[in-house]
Amino acid sequence: MPPDSTGHDWWHVYRVWKNALKIAKYEKSADKYIVQLGALLHDIADYKFNGGDELAGGRIAAECLKRASASEETISRVCHIVDNVSYRGARVKNEMKSIEGKIVQDADRLDALGAIGIARAFAYGGMKGKLIYEPKIRPVYHKSFNEYKSSQGTTINHFYEKLFLLHGRMNTKIGKELAEERDEYMRGYLKQFLKEWKVSP
Ligand code: ADP
Ligand code: NI
Repeated sequence: MPPDSTGHDWWHVYRVWKNALKIAKYEKSADKYIVQLGALLHDIADYKFNGGDELAGGRIAAECLKRASASEETISRVCHIVDNVSYRGARVKNEMKSIEGKIVQDADRLDALGAIGIARAFAYGGMKGKLIYEPKIRPVYHKSFNEYKSSQGTTINHFYEKLFLLHGRMNTKIGKELAEERDEYMRGYLKQFLKEWKVSP
């Protein structure tokens, strides 16, 4: 992973890897080899940093695995994870099919929540030139990935458009439990943010 100031650096991958292993402990049927490869490769070529190319992740992950002589079956199971891990908009269906993928997706989503999630949202929003907040711009529940990708919304809106929805969409029981705590922390943060915003001179 290249050095990256938007929360998509190696430490993001490391946290997702560790959280995925933690969740996998509770999901006994999951193949931990696939879970770990999926976690380690999930952001290897994120569409957000590849001109919106949704297929870049799976393609580059497959190349890495081929170079390491992985089997065709491993490549296909890991690429399914990399291709489907990303959030695609509030009204867009989650296509993750395997338990290994559901675990990696939960682990990735945990890192979008809580204190770390707040830091990542503002760092990413700043890099993309997004405003912190503009009360006149309302949140949008995107109906397609294209709409979501081209959104011009603010970083505060991102909390409503994605972050506050995640705890209700976790795939695993333990993932949901871990997400609830982080969700509550973020809601407290947003409440304080809006309270400070509304103070008149
Ligand atoms: P995903 O692939 O589901 O988007 P990532 O692990 O690549 O997950 O990182 C997503 C994180 O990037 C978000 O949780 C948030 O912190 C940041 N991010 C993505 N889109 C936005 C946005 N429009 N505004 C602010 N932050 C964003
Ligand atoms: Ni990620």
